[in-house]
Amino acid sequence: MKPHEIRALRELMEYEATRTAPPEGFPIFPDLLGGRYTSQAFYDLEIEHIWKKSWLFAAHIDQLPEPGCFKLWESAAQPVVLVHARAGEINAFYNTCSHRGAPLVTVDSGQRERLVCRYHGWTYNHDGELLAVRDPEDYRGLDFSCRSLVKIRCERFGNLIFVNFDDAAPTLTDWLGPIADEWREFEFENCRLACHHIWDLNCNWKIAMEANTEVYHVRSIHPHTVAPILDDRRNVNTFYREGHGRMVAPRPQDKDSALVSYTDTTPNEISTVGEIARTCTQSYGIFPNWVSPLSQYAIPPLLFWPNGVNKCRLETWTLAPDWGSGERPDMWTENNGERLRQVLIEDTEFGEWIQKSVESHGFKGVPLSYQEARIYHWHQSADRLIGTENIPPELRITPVLGEEWMHPNEPRLALARAQRRKAA
Ligand code: FES
Ligand SMILES: [Fe+2]
Repeated sequence: MKPHEIRALRELMEYEATRTAPPEGFPIFPDLLGGRYTSQAFYDLEIEHIWKKSWLFAAHIDQLPEPGCFKLWESAAQPVVLVHARAGEINAFYNTCSHRGAPLVTVDSGQRERLVCRYHGWTYNHDGELLAVRDPEDYRGLDFSCRSLVKIRCERFGNLIFVNFDDAAPTLTDWLGPIADEWREFEFENCRLACHHIWDLNCNWKIAMEANTEVYHVRSIHPHTVAPILDDRRNVNTFYREGHGRMVAPRPQDKDSALVSYTDTTPNEISTVGEIARTCTQSYGIFPNWVSPLSQYAIPPLLFWPNGVNKCRLETWTLAPDWGSGERPDMWTENNGERLRQVLIEDTEFGEWIQKSVESHGFKGVPLSYQEARIYHWHQSADRLIGTENIPPELRITPVLGEEWMHPNEPRLALARAQRRKAA
């Protein structure tokens, strides 16, 4: 992060702590409607548009480290196999044989010289080209070049592998927008995969994710875990045009920041990480389903996946600097991970209850405050990607967060300076 950006963030933190109302000109959010969490029609629109057109984090290179390694990936409700084709190059295919649709692989991961369908033996290389079929003489004019595996777009951000089902989508770098630059200091090209866990939850995936998209809940839900390390009144939210969001909150001023942190337990650190990530809690939401704090010690993303209207799957990952021969860090369940696990238990406690509420006759809608603006920004971005005209009128939301609030625009800076002048 550049020095002027750091200075601006510090100014905004003080502005947030001293303001007595939402910033002048900041919109009032219409209630979010419960149907967005309960309706099969909206869920189907998400599958058709959000999951099909977004870049989705699928795997870490450590999960398929060498040529020939493969990894089954079905988190986006599509049968996908990732294949390490040649040094560093990853291909993604539908796990669907071009003959009659049998799977190429049926185990989570492994290493193979060729992809051979076990149904009738059709054989493909790591680029998905059909090399051989059994009894070719029984076909007349079978054009191998038309029978390759169907490829899916697949790009890397450092050691992370993303897929996108939409040929018309922007590149991954364009999708990340300014965040691709902001994340340079974390050296994703060096991070190792320490751990990966799956948690099944009984609520719509957005209900689970939204518990991690605001700090309004911190003092109630996390009095002993997050509240001691994060000054929620000084939190600064940033909205990116692409639908992503960021929060940055400093440590409480009355605490010794060297003593309170829940991610200071990995053996190594990323030396290039700058001041903000070292002294604040900084978390990014990457549209549609990635939420992660980032620090010099580790990057522990949460990924939220739909599993039906009222069920979801939460993946917790630990990306860490190389731990060499030391203890493998796991921010979530093992070794030094107990504190983040506790945070996660607190964040997921109400998911099932909220799902029952939004499905009930008594639910009226969600009134979001200024502090919860990243949630509204997400929904607004979702409707844009789905196409408002495709959404039944009773499920749409009104886009009220205008361009003037999208990064790098920052009307709060002028307000902060005016407020300071007034106080002086
Ligand atoms: S379905 Fe794959 S060879 Fe027949
Ligand atoms: Fe939380």
